[in-house]
Amino acid sequence: MAQQPAAQRVEALLAAMTLEEKIGQMTLASTGLVITGPGEAGDYLAEIRAGRLGLLGDVHDPRHARDIQQIAMRESRLGVPLIFATDVIHGYRTVFPVPIGEMATFDVDLWRHTARVSAREAAACGISLTFAPMLDVTRDPRWGRIAESPGEDAWLASRYAAAKVHGYQGDDLATPGSLAATAKHFAAYGAVTAGRDYASVDISERTLHEVYLPPFRAAVNAGVSAIMPAFTDIAGVPMSASVELLRGLVRERWGFDGVMISDHGAIAELKAHGIARDDAEAAALALHAGIDVDLMSGTYARGLPVALRSGAVKEAEIDAAVRRILSLKVRLGLFDDPNSSVDAARQSPPDFTANRSLARNVATRSMVLLQDRDGLLPLAGTLRRIAVIGPLADEAEHMLGPWVTAPRPEQPVSLLQGLREGLPDCTLDYARGVPIIADDTAAVTDAVQRANAAELVVLCVGEGRQLSGEAASRARPGLPGQQAELVRRVLDCGRPTVVVLVSGRPLLEPWLFERAGTVLASWFAGCEAGHALCDLLTGRSNPSGRLPVSWPVDVGQVPIHFGQRPGGRPPAPDNPWTSKYLDLPVTPLFHFGHGLSYTRFTLANLHVEPTHSGPGDTIAVTVDVRNEGTRAGEQTLFLFVRDVHATLAQPLLCLRGTAKALLDAGACETVRFELEVATLAYLGRDLEPLLEAGEFTVLVGPSANPDELLTATIELRLAPATR
Ligand code: BGC
Repeated sequence: MAQQPAAQRVEALLAAMTLEEKIGQMTLASTGLVITGPGEAGDYLAEIRAGRLGLLGDVHDPRHARDIQQIAMRESRLGVPLIFATDVIHGYRTVFPVPIGEMATFDVDLWRHTARVSAREAAACGISLTFAPMLDVTRDPRWGRIAESPGEDAWLASRYAAAKVHGYQGDDLATPGSLAATAKHFAAYGAVTAGRDYASVDISERTLHEVYLPPFRAAVNAGVSAIMPAFTDIAGVPMSASVELLRGLVRERWGFDGVMISDHGAIAELKAHGIARDDAEAAALALHAGIDVDLMSGTYARGLPVALRSGAVKEAEIDAAVRRILSLKVRLGLFDDPNSSVDAARQSPPDFTANRSLARNVATRSMVLLQDRDGLLPLAGTLRRIAVIGPLADEAEHMLGPWVTAPRPEQPVSLLQGLREGLPDCTLDYARGVPIIADDTAAVTDAVQRANAAELVVLCVGEGRQLSGEAASRARPGLPGQQAELVRRVLDCGRPTVVVLVSGRPLLEPWLFERAGTVLASWFAGCEAGHALCDLLTGRSNPSGRLPVSWPVDVGQVPIHFGQRPGGRPPAPDNPWTSKYLDLPVTPLFHFGHGLSYTRFTLANLHVEPTHSGPGDTIAVTVDVRNEGTRAGEQTLFLFVRDVHATLAQPLLCLRGTAKALLDAGACETVRFELEVATLAYLGRDLEPLLEAGEFTVLVGPSANPDELLTATIELRLAPATR
């Protein structure tokens, strides 16, 4: 067997399999550490011996993995190895910031690098497939899964998709330390109605193609091994049964020949959706759509034999699914040596010290200084007494965020601990004030006293990890419990106060941003959160994180994002008959890309060359960036385009590039973007890319704030009817 070429090996196995063994390959069960939904472990070893399992979730111990694999390969009739699959989302043992935080670094190499490091750590424990990257664009901070998401923009999310797939998978899946990646949740899960998790999605075909599909297309182009359809339906078609999208679009048009893995229990949920009466119908629908693996619902095992007998499915469909699963096992090198990653890691274990220092670096770069009106930051070196207040100030575990699957993650560091280590000469007076969620204000007075006695207050409030992630939608995504009361009372003291927000989403508390001059968004920053916070607050590092989502003023503005279309009555200050609210501004509190640092940058001299171009050309866009402050810093620059006049109304801003300038105090650099004319295409009426001649505006700046953007004009010339 070991010597056979891959395709032959797969066909030989398939020919030898009983129906039960085939369906077994299509079944994923768990060892019991299920954290994301209903399901029981059952006697998985007996199932493996009987050839009734193809993939197993939640195996985290290398010896355990080896033993189980041995049972699969020696004690099952055909000896097919298992895929150990788990959620490695933003780190494994070393926990990095949640994805929305990592996005804020705007650093493609870093995105790839953290995926590579996570893959090595997970593969060292025997894991060979991760349910990541999550590629759901979202514009709704009510949705808890915005924490796992790449933010509001499709172009950016597509860059993230490719980086993560390359990072997890490496050049060759069989190389020790690689994981098969799963692009999820296909598609438009980020558009759930009113931000309520699992709710129905109803968006236009155009929005689907413009906004939600591109990151998945990018993942497929990057060679992603698996795709997970979303729980949700689009206008009545649950993704787990979408023949049109899964089979028609992804498999047939995009040419994806990898494995489709259902979401947790999602095949059974076709009954709750109301489109399947029983397991046999649900199984048939999912199989027709092209789902190969049933994750945790057992519906394939129960329903496919019945569906086959009734003629609702054909054995050839089952064979096609098994073929794809076996091919992935071959590509992962599992038939040749299922323990290669574990053995390689024994020889050369992951360097957890280096990984932690990477985590510190990523965490530092992910945090976004939203405002510092009074210039409190960095903290003055002369401070001797600081009150550290708030329910998240000494919560190390919460810093890890909602997605931690490794049973023994690296020890997280709280803000208080980070400050204690970093400010040994300072008295830190800690008070929790209030619990994260519960309505208990008994300790507020004590916290206020400590605030009054201090030279400065660091006030750390926000969400607990249980308020973020899956099944954690919040109609009012603000400070939970009595935290607002604590913040008000502390601010009433009038001491200089730095607010640190911990969250997996923009927190919407308009009054807080009015009253507190200094606010730092730290997200759930991972195991090094406390050290990173200390680095930033003390000025050992200069903040460089930028918002990957617009930060609304209030929930009433949601969804709000930079890619909106102008409409026929764009907001005009003096004209009431334009698109506005009577009670809120139309702009976000902080624009996409916003983020301050301890220095100040200016932009000048935007040039485009050539100004007249044709398809196939690349336009050089250059801009001078100057560091006007007194310390080194990093500026992220955004390149947007606007199609001024097109057959179909176009968004005000389309992101087409990001770049960084790392500048010493007083230094100036010319930053260059390459803008390919092909990327000026939009989706025409037929949803195919269409390049139209005419004028385009090129806009470059430090955020999507129109007031900060420099503009230039280019003219696109085309031969008639160019596509
Ligand atoms: C989530 C997925 C996850 C899966 C397996 C589901 O509840 O939606 O993102 O990969 O569980 O844990």
